[in-house]
Amino acid sequence: MIQAIKGFSKLSKQAKIEWLLSNYASNRDRSLEMLEGYWHNRPEVQKLHDEFIENTLSNYYMPFGVAPNFLINNRLYALPLAIEESSVVAAAAKAANFWLERGGFKTSVIGTVKIGHVHFIWKGYNVMALRKLLDENMNMFFESTDQITQNMRARGGGVVSIALIDKTDSEPNYYQLEAKFETCDSMGANFINSCLEAFAKVLTTLVEGAVHSLGDAPVQVIMSILSNFTPGCLVRAEVWCKIDEIEEGSGIENREFVDKFCRAIRIAEIEPYRAVTQNKGIMNGIDGLVIASGNDFRATEACAHAYAARNGRYTSLTHAEVVGNEFHFWIELPLSLGTVGGITNLHPMVRFSHELLGYPSASQLMEIAAVAGLAQNFSAVRSLITSGIQKGHMKMHLLNILNQLEATDSEKEAIIHFFKDKIVSHSAAIETFLSVRGLGNTSEINQAKSSN
Ligand code: MEV
Repeated sequence: MIQAIKGFSKLSKQAKIEWLLSNYASNRDRSLEMLEGYWHNRPEVQKLHDEFIENTLSNYYMPFGVAPNFLINNRLYALPLAIEESSVVAAAAKAANFWLERGGFKTSVIGTVKIGHVHFIWKGYNVMALRKLLDENMNMFFESTDQITQNMRARGGGVVSIALIDKTDSEPNYYQLEAKFETCDSMGANFINSCLEAFAKVLTTLVEGAVHSLGDAPVQVIMSILSNFTPGCLVRAEVWCKIDEIEEGSGIENREFVDKFCRAIRIAEIEPYRAVTQNKGIMNGIDGLVIASGNDFRATEACAHAYAARNGRYTSLTHAEVVGNEFHFWIELPLSLGTVGGITNLHPMVRFSHELLGYPSASQLMEIAAVAGLAQNFSAVRSLITSGIQKGHMKMHLLNILNQLEATDSEKEAIIHFFKDKIVSHSAAIETFLSVRGLGNTSEINQAKSSN
């Protein structure tokens, strides 16, 4: 039986690996070779990776691809995308090429305000008096963060506002100090949390000092934390063209294409089952870019989905309409991203992504990410309403199937050629592989693998 270990994080990397493999690996030497095989060949880079998190044993590689020809606000970009899903980069590149010839993508940042809360319990009854106390001493809150905000203020950011929010309708005695922030080019999580913790101290001190006039009720701070829901940090990306210019290429009439397209988006607007899948596809593009640019994709995901449900029903993040003879397709979503801080200046691949993108500001990165999402959705819906999604998806996935079968390069080439004008399915891929290799059935493949 495996025994729990104390002080694991204090062990050396080698000792951690030894302990882990001796307890969990079926083939120690094979696992060790694999883990070491993914170490960076430059020790200083590996050290950097080791120090990103606790207990690093190795690196987890993801493909880093690029989708060129993105015309965004009349400037050409090649988008870096870190993602494992076969068809995402291909889909992005296809949408980029399509819109390149139709004016490209246009974007605008609607807001960049971020938000955080000191969540607290106060059992007093005179909320007016509490509000007055806080309002009259507002300068104390700002002064308490003078040092923390100094650099940010120099860059044009800082604390935008602080307000008391009464949440007692939802939970007895529950209040918030809600603060809004401008964090310029940084995502700002550490900055916001540091400010909030300072505000919590001021709040406690202020209420302690006035406790008699406030009905002998002290403040109990529950927690101070930013919100990853940032509806005030909003970006829009859009495309439009004349219906005559669609010429989509799959044999469908332009008018029928836009009608089906708008109908498909409408279905996502009204039907949560479809909306979730559609938004997942949008996040394929956004996450790829967010990861490549060293940002926090969990925060981005949480925020996007909360925004999609902001009116109480989960809905589409994209919208489409026909106005006169023009087709119009757009996305609007909150994206809280940074181009400085975090690992943006540390991770070599992240630095390369920023270089590829021309060292964008956080606002520009928001715009580029929104475009990645819109492009992804365009390609997905375009396939869904014409050829179906599986054709392109399975074509890209074919290589994964062949790699799993351990096909040689020449076998891959022959099989890919065979499927050029055919629909790929898992079973058809296996069947073709068997015939190219001259095998009778799959058990012969397994035999061959286990004898290796
Ligand atoms: C697959 O990762 C994403 C799609 O399902 C998105 C969509 O259905 O819109 C293709």
